[in-house]
Amino acid sequence: MHVLLTAGPTYEPLDPVRFLGNRSTGKMGYALAEAFAAIGATVTLVSGPVQLPAPTNPLIRTVRVETAEQMYAAAAEAAPSADVWVFAAAVADYRPAHVAAEKIKKSGDTLTLELVKNVDIAATLGHTKRAEQFSVGFALETTNELAHAQDKLRRKGFDLVVLNSLRDAGAGFGHDTNKVTVLAATGQIVNFELQSKADLAHDLVGLIMGRLKLAI
Ligand code: CTP
Repeated sequence: MHVLLTAGPTYEPLDPVRFLGNRSTGKMGYALAEAFAAIGATVTLVSGPVQLPAPTNPLIRTVRVETAEQMYAAAAEAAPSADVWVFAAAVADYRPAHVAAEKIKKSGDTLTLELVKNVDIAATLGHTKRAEQFSVGFALETTNELAHAQDKLRRKGFDLVVLNSLRDAGAGFGHDTNKVTVLAATGQIVNFELQSKADLAHDLVGLIMGRLKLAI
């Protein structure tokens, strides 16, 4: 079995020394890569810039990228041959319209940046998904969590969406623990208790494998 995983943030350059990014650490995605490798799957881990050590498991091939465009290119290359796609990356939705060749100098009291939309990696690949392929997305919502997550299932062609809770202490960005609710395109909802990202990764892999019923 081959798994494509995206993880970490993307950095969108503004000039040679600055970028737009976010606080994703990549911990959940890297934990999932280890958990898939632990059951014998080969993993293509497309990773944005993170502070984590590269996985040493020989079943995990790590492709390091920086921008959403680069992450899309690497993911699109691996997607056709992957049985499972997991989109755990926190991709920047927008990037600066112009990348300055030289460092932007301070001038007026305000500075307005023009941003353009980035490619939606999960949604774009979702249109190419074959019936036997399985796609899993992540969602982080602050309002109407379930309705928004259900909308994402449809729009991005996910079979499962993992909804991160922001209401619980210790869950989400930067933490070693996470608390999630998983929604299936078929309508089922599974709640997981707060646990380490490593334990949660094993539970999620178990859930995905149960739905796939694929022999490795
Ligand atoms: N995603 C992606 N490419 C993007 C944006 C998001 O692949 N350019 C994936 C994420 O990896 C995640 C899922 O889509 O699995 C949901 O991301 P999210 O940012 O919550 O969705 P958006 O479509 O950007 O919706 P929102 O308006 O809530 O930001």
